[in-house]
Amino acid sequence: MRHPVVMGNWKLNGSKEMVVDLLTGLNAELEGVTGVDVAVAPPALFIDLAERTLTDAGSAIILGAQNTDINNQGAFTGDTSPAMLKEFGATHIIIGHSERREYHKESDEFVAKKFAFLKENGLTPVLCIGETEAQNEAGETESVCARQIDAVINLLGAEALNGAIIAYEPIWAIGTGKAATADDAQRIHASIRAHIAEKNADVAKNIVIQYGGSVKPENAAAYFAQPDIDGALVGGAALDAKSFAAIAKAAAVAKAQ
Ligand code: PGA
Repeated sequence: MRHPVVMGNWKLNGSKEMVVDLLTGLNAELEGVTGVDVAVAPPALFIDLAERTLTDAGSAIILGAQNTDINNQGAFTGDTSPAMLKEFGATHIIIGHSERREYHKESDEFVAKKFAFLKENGLTPVLCIGETEAQNEAGETESVCARQIDAVINLLGAEALNGAIIAYEPIWAIGTGKAATADDAQRIHASIRAHIAEKNADVAKNIVIQYGGSVKPENAAAYFAQPDIDGALVGGAALDAKSFAAIAKAAAVAKAQ
């Protein structure tokens, strides 16, 4: 049985005050909630404060990050290494988000290197994949997702996906309020799982595949009712404790059935 994971991607949002308020509020909202792993990825600068806040609260919320470098130290101005993330308790690291791919020109191959380096450092990659609106309209969704996953499989083998998380995020649905329908998302998730199964059926069966793109408390349950949707990567709605907790609770309820 796959255990659902709901992760909040805070993107470039936050302040010291917000980190403490949001995490304290979220922790209270999640009291007694079991059956779902809840993770947050604050901006790197706030991971230290997030760790201290979660530790003080005795929280089970998992700490993550939004990106990593592919070196642990050296002359790489502006970057953050897996070793640093690990020292501050961050375990679930988002890589290949479409905003990194687009604004920082990150290629499939570069993202695969990040995947490899996270694994090497004992961290959990949250590998984002997904198609643009034009690719979607051209019927290329499944081939784009397969290509993005194959960059990792070609570099490391399908077994490397063991224990990692995939986040399927159609780019046209991110931050737009134009979410994919639960049926469409399920179809793509099933195709992603089938693609991995061609290489390794066990890995495909066990890997957590999240949906991301305008997930809100109002639409979350419909996604989690789908057999191949194992959680969500949440942007906007993760900035509000009540909304994000409602999404996590919906996953716990749906997957307990
Ligand atoms: P959104 O962002 O929930 O605001 O659409 C999701 C993401 O980019 O991870």
